[in-house]
Amino acid sequence: MKTSQLKNIVIPLLDWYHNNSRKLPWRENKDPYRIWISEIMLQQTRVEAVISYYERFMKRFPTVESLAVCEDEELFKLWEGLGYYTRARNLKKAAQVICTHFQGQFPSQFDQILALPGIGVYTAGAIASIAFEQARAAVDGNVLRVITRLTGDNRDITDAKFRDEITKVLEDSYPQSQRGDFTQSLMELGAVVCVPNGAPQCNRCPLSKFCDAYSNGTQLLYPVKKKKSARKMEQKTVLILSFQDKIALRKREGDGVLSGMWELPNQEGTLTRQQVYQWLAKKGVIVDTIKEPSNKKKQLKHIFTHIEWHMTYWIISCSTTGTDQNFVWVTDEQLEQDIALPTAFKKVYQAALQERCVREKI
Ligand code: ADE
Repeated sequence: MKTSQLKNIVIPLLDWYHNNSRKLPWRENKDPYRIWISEIMLQQTRVEAVISYYERFMKRFPTVESLAVCEDEELFKLWEGLGYYTRARNLKKAAQVICTHFQGQFPSQFDQILALPGIGVYTAGAIASIAFEQARAAVDGNVLRVITRLTGDNRDITDAKFRDEITKVLEDSYPQSQRGDFTQSLMELGAVVCVPNGAPQCNRCPLSKFCDAYSNGTQLLYPVKKKKSARKMEQKTVLILSFQDKIALRKREGDGVLSGMWELPNQEGTLTRQQVYQWLAKKGVIVDTIKEPSNKKKQLKHIFTHIEWHMTYWIISCSTTGTDQNFVWVTDEQLEQDIALPTAFKKVYQAALQERCVREKI
């Protein structure tokens, strides 16, 4: 891949971006704090889904300082539904580093940005170029698709060496000014024109005349991606334990998925009614009624990046809270307002609420 091939795209792409870019809240100014938060939120989440989270977050935490001193629970509650909570944890850690080591000023050197918790090469490149106008590229899936189609490169985009090469060649092609716009124009083209899944809008593309894939009609062959290994399937049995007007939660242990977050009590595997009784008996919980869901959705599925949970659940009314010190009993209201319950468990909780409505109607 040659730099000369990519230099041609700079002016038409910037022109197109200036006339066609979406108005997004993080594009209102070049404040590195605002850009950083947006890039972290956008890492695993679609633009449309991010906007309302972003606006709420900025209202509550308008500065690095406000984020550095926040309560974890409040931060997670604002993050609830976005998933990948490590991102939120790292945001707070990085805000603390910025306050202690950089007097609250977001650092401008690439290596300093890269050294902050939760920031990798992609995000450091995005911040350095968008907020500080440096010739740094931010090569994500959208950009990889644009570049491999343009250049007709059929190497595997999951190969880190290939990504490094694209980053280097792109950085050599950066213009002298409008570097942040150039970074965002590549992302934008990938998001709205050079889209995946069989529908690139080549008739609207400012780069079609430079595009190898377009001229050969091979757009759909790019990017080439090595097949991912299959996700690991895990069976879980989740319990909605209620006592009076409260339900039991606990914090997740270990360092696996969702560690440190709130969860509904659960066990590996698919437990029988008998096994559920036994498990609760060991915790001193006396069961009043126990109910398998009556609806067809007895199994709920939640997909993480590398794991898939298949959850069966039981709705249990207890006549004691038992002896397990890890259980925290909360009201529906506390759960709605103060506690961030990860989506996997929210699905179970919602299903149980529906069950409760069904029961009450009967
Ligand atoms: N995806 C990642 N960064 C983005 C940005 N700055 N604008 C739109 N989509 C993005």
